Amino acid sequence: MSAPLLSPVKLGRYTLPNRIVMAPLTRNRAAAGNVPTALNVLHYEQRASAGLLITEATQVCPEGLGYPNTPGIYSPEQVAGWKLVTDGVHAKGGKIFLQLWHVGRISHPDLQPDGKLPVAPSAIAPEGEAATYTGMKPFVTPRALELEEIPQIVEQYRLGAKNALEAGFDGVEIHGANGYLLDQFLQDNTNQRTDIYGGSIENRARLLLEVTEAVVGVWGGDRVGLRLSPSGTFNSMYDSNRVATFGYAVKELNRFNLAYLHLVAPRVEGFGSAEDQPDLGAEFFRPIFNGTIITAGGYNFETGNAAIASGNADLVAYGRLYIANPDLVERFAAGASLNKPDRNTFYGGDEQGYTDYPAMASA
Ligand code: PHB
Repeated sequence: MSAPLLSPVKLGRYTLPNRIVMAPLTRNRAAAGNVPTALNVLHYEQRASAGLLITEATQVCPEGLGYPNTPGIYSPEQVAGWKLVTDGVHAKGGKIFLQLWHVGRISHPDLQPDGKLPVAPSAIAPEGEAATYTGMKPFVTPRALELEEIPQIVEQYRLGAKNALEAGFDGVEIHGANGYLLDQFLQDNTNQRTDIYGGSIENRARLLLEVTEAVVGVWGGDRVGLRLSPSGTFNSMYDSNRVATFGYAVKELNRFNLAYLHLVAPRVEGFGSAEDQPDLGAEFFRPIFNGTIITAGGYNFETGNAAIASGNADLVAYGRLYIANPDLVERFAAGASLNKPDRNTFYGGDEQGYTDYPAMASA
């Protein structure tokens, strides 16, 4: 029997040649104006044999920025930069979705327009430090969004989705994971609002569902994915009842017939899991979600195949392995050894550690 990871799969309106996904990876190599460059084009082109590429998280508006040199999808220059990426990937026969992002409180006045406070559901600071252009600085207490401002947030996601369509992407993934804005609304340690966007689970899930509706309105559900990290504690996240919160959100997402649900697996290195709550992975969501599931987080070829063979997931996303192995599909197929990723070049810099990992033939 051939490896499940190397078999074709239907994902929304597409049929993909394999079930190996390149996970969204923040690499901080966009140019001034948060515009993708020729170097970014090469990076994605090199990895085009993945069944699906998901771009690095890409902010939908200037306020959505939380790290130096991450790309955006709100200006004409950014759309033009991304067009070069999608053209390059398509010329290699690949498929690529853009990840739509707003960091919410995971930012700093140094990164915000006019040095303003970052925005969030509630005025609660995360623990730790923000990565600014002049080094790490303690997170500040964000400003709680006014009720009247929330339609504008939905509109920013809609515009980002429209721009992604114009830039030639095959679809988009809504970033609902890892403690960024939509996750901050969803989980109760970051959302203490008393209006229709806070309190009950239904209210906390409202923004996520409104954004999904807006993005699906642009693309159709069969070209929209959504990423969640129900078990993660990264970015100071916690929910007092994650089973109920995420169970409700995923049940509601069924109405959009999404291309996929993308789950960050429990206990991924660096992303944590609160010990007093059950781990929620693909196995938990399989009976709840009526669609394709991608699971991500620390998998190798064997455990990835096992995840699909178990019936709990349909595709597996690889992050760290894709940083170091542009031809990961070919290496898996050949049973070849893998390049080791170098942590020192993950975030920022030039081609070193970005586009210079060798492919198999020349390894
Ligand atoms: C990061 O830049 O550390 C980062 C960005 C997006 C994620 C997770 C981590 O979803």
